[in-house]
Amino acid sequence: MTILITGATGFIGRHLCAHFTARQTPVLALMRNPGGLPGLRARINELGGNGDYLAAIHGDLDAPDLAVESSALPDLQAIVHLGARFAWRLPNKAARRTNVAGSLAVTRLARRLDCRLVFISGFMLENSRHLSRIGVTGQDPALINWQRVYRLTGAYEGSKLEAAIAVRHELQDYENWVEVQPATVAGHSVSGDLDPSQPLYALIDNLARGRLALSPGGPAHWLPLIPVDTLAAMIARATLDPSPPRRLLALDEATPNLRPMLTLVAKALERRPPSGHIPIPLLFLLLRVPGVARFANTYPEALHFIQPDRFDLGGADEFLDRVGVAKPPIRQAIDASVGHYLRENGAPSPGLGRR
Ligand SMILES: NC(=O)c1ccc[n+]([C@@H]2O[C@H](COP(=O)([O-])OP(=O)(O)OC[C@H]3O[C@@H](n4cnc5c(N)ncnc54)[C@H](OP(=O)(O)O)[C@@H]3O)[C@@H](O)[C@H]2O)c1
Repeated sequence: MTILITGATGFIGRHLCAHFTARQTPVLALMRNPGGLPGLRARINELGGNGDYLAAIHGDLDAPDLAVESSALPDLQAIVHLGARFAWRLPNKAARRTNVAGSLAVTRLARRLDCRLVFISGFMLENSRHLSRIGVTGQDPALINWQRVYRLTGAYEGSKLEAAIAVRHELQDYENWVEVQPATVAGHSVSGDLDPSQPLYALIDNLARGRLALSPGGPAHWLPLIPVDTLAAMIARATLDPSPPRRLLALDEATPNLRPMLTLVAKALERRPPSGHIPIPLLFLLLRVPGVARFANTYPEALHFIQPDRFDLGGADEFLDRVGVAKPPIRQAIDASVGHYLRENGAPSPGLGRR
């Protein structure tokens, strides 16, 4: 039985493909450009997987019914839906088409094939204070003012929230599905592998360039993390386990609060750590000044993920214990991510922000 993965070429997707194929589980990648399969196989081999167990089929989240040739699909055990537009300052329409309509099309495909759906949402779906503040309440997507939600959160987060509420609604009478809710993804806990497009990479880069003189939020704020290899192991268990929980929060509660975390990273980079805090509403206003966000390489939307709220991990931790997934110390993953950054970019040049 094969696992179909959308978003297989992305950061999490590549690590998930490596995880499955290293264990000889066949994976079929839904790709906009299946001609990229040899490159993806090579990358997955580098990550410790086995590219021989990887095949590809054409598909596009933006196309009606994903433009998938259903008759060309093998027997599927599960579909893991990772594919999404993941960026700041997306146009609402494009984010909605790919992230909401695309997710619903994947959901319908899983139902049609009667296989498990592993749907990847995000940890903000478990932040009830944030959800009620932005008006994401109740279970009927038709009763939520999404225009307002997108205005308050930005199109990426808005579309991820809308997709999750819509998929849950669509699957009310379907049993065989799991929602995995990742925190911000950190690099691989050993190699530190981290894509430049990932938010943690941007934080490390900002510190390296002396751009983060103050830590956003107050002393209680944090940006919870999960290493990409732990996340891949969790998604794989959620895919194959006979009775996973309906929702699985993928987050390491030992992630340091933001300022101590930035201090750790700054020390490893030999840069000056943030000297204090800046309230998020103030930073939000500053970043709205034209050009500032680009110059500071920080976008207002990214700040929503920095919150003081803590989460109840009871069910997720019980599941991880049962299936034998151990979380490596998060500090190890942070150090490895910085090490990877330094190997890719060299030591930051002396100047602004040097300790
Ligand atoms: N990284 C995080 O911190 C984080 C945290 C919480 C949740 N998540 C969620 O986890 C998932 C994967 O994140 P990631 O960090 O791996 O993202 P990523 O590196 O940006 O990868 C996105 C993937 O989606 C694919 N994709 C985009 N548009 C598509 C389309 N129209 N049709 C088919 N495929 C399309 C991309 O394929 P191409 O190669 O064709 O562009 C790529 O494989 C997303 O759903 C994201 O919202 C991520």
